[in-house]
Amino acid sequence: MRIDIISGVPQLLKYPLSESILKRAQQKQLAEIIVHDLRTFAHDKHKIIDLPPYGGGAGMILKPEPIFECVEKLQSERSYDEIIYVTADGERFDQKMANTLSLKKNLIILCGHYKGIDQRVREALITKEISIGDYVLTGGELAAMVITDALVRLIPGVIGDGESALTDSFQDGLLDAPSYTRPEDFRGMKVPEVLLGGNHKEVSKWKDQQRRSKTGERRKDML
Ligand code: ADE
Repeated sequence: MRIDIISGVPQLLKYPLSESILKRAQQKQLAEIIVHDLRTFAHDKHKIIDLPPYGGGAGMILKPEPIFECVEKLQSERSYDEIIYVTADGERFDQKMANTLSLKKNLIILCGHYKGIDQRVREALITKEISIGDYVLTGGELAAMVITDALVRLIPGVIGDGESALTDSFQDGLLDAPSYTRPEDFRGMKVPEVLLGGNHKEVSKWKDQQRRSKTGERRKDML
């Protein structure tokens, strides 16, 4: 899978992509994640990518020309399954959407900054608008990272334990069971007996009960 992220603040994306699981996924060539600096597509000598909105109002709007040029350059090199714009007024991101998008080959994610982007970009270029939740961020970069992380970890081979991604919270409509590791007794807080016994059937029954009760307590809407 290849993800091209277009941003006016590419430095914000540098570290999350160069550490841990996302780093290994790229090293193993399971994912190719390329960040494009919008400013390199600005033609004027000040590299302006944003201007105040027509009609007045607070904040700056990303100009259409650099975005069109960047997207058109990428499209001339390969075809894209989706051109995503991350925005608080987009469709809500969830595990189901992550599963669907993780099967795609080439994606573009466009990050808005400041007050938004010119509407003509949304109408002419964007195929999908995604929000990561009902709150407003200062820009789309963190949302793009959340989406990238959620997709890349689903690619077979990215997470060591083949089963791990399948047993996550949300994957089958339930939250995950609690986890424990050594020591068996930490300051008097003990690991549940059933996990120590090695009876896989009992462990799986316990986990199932835990998942159901946790989901019932925290997320009745999911049951
Ligand atoms: N940009 C600003 N807020 C956002 C949100 N909640 N989701 C996605 N992109 C955003």
